[in-house]
Amino acid sequence: MRGRRAPMVSVDDLRLAARRRVPRFAFDYVDGGAGAEDGLSRNRAAFRKAIFSPRVLVNTEGALDTGRNFLGRRWSLPFGVAPMGLAGMAWPGADIALARAAQAAGVLYVAATPATATLESLRTAAPDSAWFQLYVGKSAEITDDLLARARAAGYDTLVVTADVPRPGKRRRDLRNGFALPLCMGPRMLADLALHPAWALATLRAGAPRFANFQQYAGAGAGARSLAELMAGQSSGRLDWALLARIRAGWPGRLVLKGVLAPDDALRAAEAGVDAVQVSNHGGRQLDGAPAALDALRAVRKAVGPGYPVAMDSGVRSGEDILKALDAGADFVFLGRPFLYAVAARGDAGAAEVVGLLHAELVQALAQTGRAALPEA
Ligand SMILES: Cc1cc2nc3c(=O)[nH]c(=O)nc-3n(C[C@H](O)[C@H](O)[C@H](O)COP(=O)(O)O)c2cc1C
Repeated sequence: MRGRRAPMVSVDDLRLAARRRVPRFAFDYVDGGAGAEDGLSRNRAAFRKAIFSPRVLVNTEGALDTGRNFLGRRWSLPFGVAPMGLAGMAWPGADIALARAAQAAGVLYVAATPATATLESLRTAAPDSAWFQLYVGKSAEITDDLLARARAAGYDTLVVTADVPRPGKRRRDLRNGFALPLCMGPRMLADLALHPAWALATLRAGAPRFANFQQYAGAGAGARSLAELMAGQSSGRLDWALLARIRAGWPGRLVLKGVLAPDDALRAAEAGVDAVQVSNHGGRQLDGAPAALDALRAVRKAVGPGYPVAMDSGVRSGEDILKALDAGADFVFLGRPFLYAVAARGDAGAAEVVGLLHAELVQALAQTGRAALPEA
């Protein structure tokens, strides 16, 4: 039994709490970045460098409306949950906990191709709030089938991730020997023994697996063949021609995620993509990628005011969300903060961190002398 819960003060605190509760190899999978993790630091440095020009004597006494129209719907907040594969590594059941919390709060949630729950179950958990994120894999049949399943499940918006032509080189994972299926050496066993709550919860739930791929590996397939199938799915075949085919075949809205170059954003708009998501994958892919916040400014300048642009990578507070909106984002996504929250506080952490970020955003609006969100 835990005593009275400590107040949730910041995402940074949640990260530290998650680090205590989760085995090192699992925490590093969530927390780590590619290469020397310069890209990871660059994202944060860009937010630190951005400062506001606060105004005074603006009456901000009334309730501040933080709702936002984005791609055909009004969301209760201008931020949402970015797609995250293997979220169950942070804590078993994290995918479903986040989807349910998003649905309850009217917040946007993006279900990932390599999720640890099926896309069907995530849509059921968030029938009004979930989009589907697609990784284009080596097998055209599997990619087509994932799209057909997403349509059948009722997803109306597809997010195609463009920044993984090869898997990122994450040194922490390599050092920890982290790969699926988990291969328990003495170091990993000691790590589990030091984190019994995570170990027991994982034992009860079953080891995290790529739930969407189970049916392609065969119903009785073990964790190893499933993981091998998934590893073989990493592919560099997504190009503009294939994107055009996906566009032609997908009847709903289409978002291209992982755009950094203004010219790519312009080309995506020409190709009938409904929005671009400026992102460097949270520093997990190319270590030398520009900070997403800097790329966002350049992309917004190129596409002009009317075209929908979202961003993610490095957002850790309500002030950061406002900085991203000020820099030209219509909508902001966060990744790791949601996993830190569930790892640190259990399922309830998902709703708590939404509340924390909302409160910080309202505070930042008032502190900068604004009675409403900046215009999209
Ligand atoms: C554990 C983890 C798994 C991720 N898996 C995916 C994925 O399957 N598909 C995808 O498009 N992006 C994935 N991402 C990237 C996120 O969608 C997002 O771009 C990134 O986390 C944003 O940076 P932040 O964590 O600093 O907020 C993943 C990120 C993390 C932390």
